[in-house]
Amino acid sequence: MNNVDAILQAGLAAVAAVTDLVELEQVKARYLGKSGELTELLKQLGKLPPEERKAAGATINVAKQAFEAAHNARRDALNAQKLEAQLAAEALDVSLPGRGSVGGGLHPVALTLERISGLFRSMGFEVADGPEIETDFYNFQALNIPENHPARAMQDTFYVENGDVLRTHTSPIQARFMENNQPPIKIVAPGRVYRVDSDATHSPMFHQMEGLWVDEGVSFADLKAVVTDFLRRFFERDDLQVRFRPSFFPFTETSAEIDVLDDKGRWLEVGGCGMVHPNVLRIANIDPEIYTGFAFGIGLDRFAMLRYGVNDLRLFFENDLNFLKQFN
Ligand code: FA5
Ligand code: MG
Repeated sequence: MNNVDAILQAGLAAVAAVTDLVELEQVKARYLGKSGELTELLKQLGKLPPEERKAAGATINVAKQAFEAAHNARRDALNAQKLEAQLAAEALDVSLPGRGSVGGGLHPVALTLERISGLFRSMGFEVADGPEIETDFYNFQALNIPENHPARAMQDTFYVENGDVLRTHTSPIQARFMENNQPPIKIVAPGRVYRVDSDATHSPMFHQMEGLWVDEGVSFADLKAVVTDFLRRFFERDDLQVRFRPSFFPFTETSAEIDVLDDKGRWLEVGGCGMVHPNVLRIANIDPEIYTGFAFGIGLDRFAMLRYGVNDLRLFFENDLNFLKQFN
């Protein structure tokens, strides 16, 4: 029992000397572990004469407690140091100027919109716009879609409480523009539109661009020429195959869907078009005996998907910076 104090002093020195928590636990094991030096002393108590055991046991326990106290104090100090170091390493100096600041960029749909309106401006079209919350009159009735007409079911509509709608297409801009302007009219009108619709190629909010050309003698041949020329310039392919597939819209007669042939030989619908229905001209006070016109409505998001090879429309609206950064 004579060396209890020597062992304790060595143990305390070892505790004081450690520089990290792993080392500290190793030192603890060396003294208090199963075969640690202080533990071994306790085991030897049995070999002492009975009258010495009590005092010797007490001495060893005092040494044990002293060691434990030193160990705990050292552990707390090392933990505090560790936390300090971590806080210092993670500290943010918000007053530092940023490094290599990265400029923002336009959204791919905005880039597509700019590109498309630029192409149409170069063909003499002006850019017009209209409200996103639209009256039933402009979204439907002025476009030859009377109340209770089955064509209303072609587009699932979001209604506003007072009976107005979130416009389901950009076509109401046609009606508004014709109401306030006489031919020649040559406009494109981009904007957000809304439908109760949602999957990989349909989004409840998406973008269209309307085109409208009304004048004397405008024909379906003009429609085909303008749309085909635009598509070939947009996709930068003079041999792009374009198809006008017969269709129906209440506001055009005749009507067609516009399809383009992709690299994989699939026809993709990019919009609808047709000759403006005489009723639509008449409602806007334009004389259909004198004037004819064509209109089209294209899905801008579909154009962005095709141009950038994006296969899920929803990516455009999730605002994931890693996705958006690619278009800077
Ligand atoms: C129309 O909306 C007509 N107003 C187009 C039109 C204008 C025809 C002028 C004639 C004259 P449609 O519902 O097919 O047509 O939509 C036009 C295009 O919008 C579609 O070809 C497609 O490219 C795009 N589109 C339609 N629904 C969605 C949607 N939920 N998400 C993304 N794009 C859509
Ligand atoms: Mg369609």
